[in-house]
This record gives sequence, C-alpha cells and structure tokens, in this order.
Amino acid sequence: MARIPQSFIDELVSRVDIVEVIDARVPLKKHGREFTACCPFHNEKTPSFTVSPSKQFYHCFGCGAHGTALGFLMEYEHLDFPEAVRQLAEQVGMEVPVESGSDNRASFAPLYAVLHDAQRFFHAQLKHSPTAVDYLKRRGVSGEIAAEFGIGFAPAGWDQLLKALGKDAATQQNLLDAGLVIRAEDGRIRDRFRERVMFPIRDARGRDIGFGGRVIGNDEPKYLNSPETPLFHKGRELYGLYEARQALRDIPRLLVVEGYMDVVALHQHELRYAVATLGTATTPEHLQKIFRVTAEVVFCFDGDRAGRVAAWRALENALPETRDGRQLKFLFLPEGEDPDTLVRKEGREALELRLRQAVPLSVFLLDSLSAQTDLSSLDGRARLVELARPHLAKLPVGVYREMLGAELARRAQVNPEKLTMLNRVSSRKATGDQQPAPAGPTLTGPVRKALALLLHQPALAALAGNPANLADTGLRGVETLQAVLEFTQGHPHITGAGLLEHWRDTETGAYLMKLAQAELLTPDNGMESEFRAVVADLAGRRDEQRLATLVETSRLRPLGNEEKAELTRLIAARHAGPGAPKL
Ligand code: UTP
Ligand code: MN
Repeated sequence: MARIPQSFIDELVSRVDIVEVIDARVPLKKHGREFTACCPFHNEKTPSFTVSPSKQFYHCFGCGAHGTALGFLMEYEHLDFPEAVRQLAEQVGMEVPVESGSDNRASFAPLYAVLHDAQRFFHAQLKHSPTAVDYLKRRGVSGEIAAEFGIGFAPAGWDQLLKALGKDAATQQNLLDAGLVIRAEDGRIRDRFRERVMFPIRDARGRDIGFGGRVIGNDEPKYLNSPETPLFHKGRELYGLYEARQALRDIPRLLVVEGYMDVVALHQHELRYAVATLGTATTPEHLQKIFRVTAEVVFCFDGDRAGRVAAWRALENALPETRDGRQLKFLFLPEGEDPDTLVRKEGREALELRLRQAVPLSVFLLDSLSAQTDLSSLDGRARLVELARPHLAKLPVGVYREMLGAELARRAQVNPEKLTMLNRVSSRKATGDQQPAPAGPTLTGPVRKALALLLHQPALAALAGNPANLADTGLRGVETLQAVLEFTQGHPHITGAGLLEHWRDTETGAYLMKLAQAELLTPDNGMESEFRAVVADLAGRRDEQRLATLVETSRLRPLGNEEKAELTRLIAARHAGPGAPKL
C-alpha cells in the first residue's frame, strides 16, 4: 500500500463535504436534516440512500451500503484507497505527500510496463503468423474484436519474448516476476508461452496483468494461464470486465461464462456484458466485484452434470452476497454447447431470450433440494426444510430471505410463520450473533450513545472532561470512547467522517462504522443536552462502581483518610440526585 500520512488524510477529510462529493455524482434532495437519493449501489424506485451532513456519512437502508466520502468514491468510482485519496485531494486543491521508499506502487510500475510491452509484442506477432490468423478466422473472431481485446500470438521457439524484451538483468527479473518467462531446471530462462494465441487479462483500469494462452493444435494443456503474481490473482479477476465497462455506460447485468473464447464471441455479438472467471469457481471476491458495477448477475453453465455441480458451487458462494435489490440467476445451456458456439449458431436475440428465461437463485436452490426428496410424503417435505435450513441461514436478513422462506414453506406445506421462527433460531445458532435490525444497530448504553453523538458533533468532546476519568466505569467499549474523546479533544475541527477515516481498517474503526449507521433520533439542537446527560450517566456509573469498590475494601481493611473522604463525597453526590456528578 502506498503510504499516505494519516495526518494528511485527517486534514483532507476535514476539508471535504460529503454532500458535495456525492451530489456531483448522484443528485441529492434535502430531506429534513439529511439528503436522500435512489441508491447508486442497488436498483430501487424509492430513495433509501441517505447522506448525513453532520456525520459526513452515507447509508443506504435498502442494501446496507455505507461509508464516508472516501468510501463512497472507492465504491462509486471503483478506486482503491490511495486513488480515492488522490482524487478527493485534487478536488479540494491539496497535494498528496508521498513517502517514497515505502510506496509499493512504484515497485509495481516495472511489472505493469513489462506486461504491457509483452502484450504489444504478442499483438504484433499475430500478423506474422498465418496459422494463428487463420485459426482465429476459422473460429469466427473478427479483426475488430481481436484488436479490442488485444489478442496476440506467442511465437514458437524458446526465447522469442525474452530476446525481444529481456535486454538486461533487471528486465529479465521483471519478466520472471510478471510470470512471462520461467527459469528452467538448467538455469536458463525461457518463454512461458510458446505457440499460443494470447488473451491479455486486464485489471479494472485496463492495465495488462496476465495472459491466457490457447494452443492452436491439440496439445495439453489447452489453455495456459499466467501464474499468481503480485499483480495477478486468478480468483479475483474477471476476464472481459474492463471491456464491458468500456463499452457500456450502465451495465444492465453481468453474464458470467467459463471461457475466454465465450467472452470474445459474446462481445462480438454485442452482448457486451459477458465476463469469465479464469478457470476457477466464482469466488466471493468475484461477486463483490460484480455487485459493484451491476445489480444483476447471470451465471452460465453447461447443461451437463459437471455444469450443475459447478452451478451449485457458485450458488453456495453467492448466498451470503444475496441482498434485496440484487438478482442472481442461473442459465443452463443445451448439452454440447457453450456460449461461443451457441451465439454463433443462434445469434444475439436467441441468446437474450434464453437469458430472460434464466432460473432465479431461489428456484435453482429449492429445485435442486426438492429433487433430493420425495415431496409427496410428509417425511420428504420435512427433509426439504432440513436441507434448506443451512442455506437459508447464510442469507442476510431481509426481504429476499423472507420470500425464500415463504416459498420453502409453500413447497414443504408448512405454516410460514412457524418456518420463519425455525429459521431465525437456526441462523442465530449458525452465525452466533444477533439479528441486526435493518436500520443499523440500536443505541443502547451510554458508551454507544456517547460515540454516536460524537460522530454527529465531534465538538461535543470538549464537554466530556478528562477521558482518563472514565476508566473506572467498567463498561464495555469504554476504551474506545476514551480514545475517541482524547483524539477529538486534540482535533476540535474534525468531522465524524474524519474519525471514521482516522480509524479506517481497525477494530475501533469497524465499531465506529457500525455506530455511524445507527439512526439517532435526537434533533441537532438537542445533541448537546443529550451528550451532557450521557456524560453525567457515565460519571454516575463510574461513581457507583467506585463506591462499590470502596465499600468492598472497607470490609477487608480499614479505609485510609483519603478513601474515607472520597466515600463520603460519593455518598453525598448520590443523594444529590441524577445529573449531579461531574467527571
Ligand atoms: P473449456 O475447456 O470449456 O474451453 O475451458 P473453452 O473456453 O470452450 O475453449 P475453446 O472454445 O476450446 O477455445 C473453459 C475455461 O477454463 C479454463 C480457461 O479459462 C478456459 O477458457 N481452462 C481450460 C484452463 O485454464 N486450462 C485448460 O487447460 C482448460
Ligand atoms: Mn468453447
């Protein structure tokens, strides 16, 4: 990770206004003390996306998306953290200081460069190989689509690429690190890809990060892929995603297929939303990538048994990513066909028709399970519920889960109410946590309340006195409150988002992020008095705790003079009534 000094991020976050940042991309409407819009991260007709200017925080009650201005940019513009910092800094005219040396980005640059050079080399070689050109023609790949995808050819021989690019030792090392050449047992360096049609794999920004190479004849393996490198992680990348995003402003859905040739053929037939996993099952990371750009995904599989097994694996990975507003579907192709052959045979419209008939995840799930039992018998129906239970438990709480439960109840012919209860119990057991309310955590307890108020109005910290005095309250989370108070008292102009960013990627940050999502029912002008009340409550609890300790001590040994005085003071304060103790 590039090292950007935390102090710079604190300063940056304090200067930007989340309302401006979001409004420039998603027009917002004022609604009470917040701003709302239809959520950019899922499909909806009525707005459940809210932006709080006081907290400098956004939250969608529909899909649960939430975060700061920086987080929003990362999600919306698909940027990584340092990139989002850079973009935001540019907008407010700040220059990002770079601590060189610890900046990894710099050390990746030569790898990107060598991969790009290799792509250009392969692409140029294509023209010199009639066999390769002929092969692509025979498979119906047009010149335009080949150029768009940067398809090339790795010539025969042991060291063509090496000779072309690997002039010095440093470049040779980069070629090795990028997975383009390998060191053979005899110590010599050789090209990894020989006599193969080359498909460059690009990252979200279009940079070449790896290759897939297909043999022209019948050699094994049919496809050779780049190994895992610092830039290329098979389980994370989707072939064709960059091209899809280049071609489409709004991606209506992503169709996940298996092969390079499938993606190329589908794009050539104007189905520009096709992507492929790279010879792996769909991972949770793939799904997160997918749902960042679209709300609908269709997984495409062969109609044979292997295809069904692969589809089931995809379903299992997809369950936790199933949210309201997201659609997951399965498309099974006729045996012996893949999307490449099918689209060339049937054309675009026929394939789109098949897409419209794709099976929703819920149906695929329940159909697959139903096939394992005899629904005409009572035992069989009970078994269906048993089989479905662990899968339902993996679904996040929401309308989708309710609906799937209702459908299960219908098929099993049980009372849906009873089934819902069964599911609740089992999911709590399964995940070990409590049902999160859709509107975020509830604010019970003075520590949570104090933190939530501070996220709205960090300046309140000044009213809290010395944070060290809170140590004796014995309350859970009090260390976090102390840390936040201490930091905020030292940074009186910080915003709620500033606090979230200061603790980004830490446990404290995760805790604060949760609290930031909770709905605070206090009006703006009531926050100060509420905060004072919470502080008084905390002081009261600390005093109670201290009183109990002193009483306990007095049973074991006589109290010293100071302790006696303290005890007297505490008892007097207790009689003075609530609100009296001061930190
Ligand atoms: P398939 O064997 O289904 O091939 O592999 P395909 O995509 O239809 O290829 P063509 O049409 O014969 O050219 C599907 C995907 O699995 C991965 C590749 O990503 C391939 O596109 N694969 C397959 C490999 O990584 N290595 C292999 O040896 C075979
Ligand atoms: Mn194929």
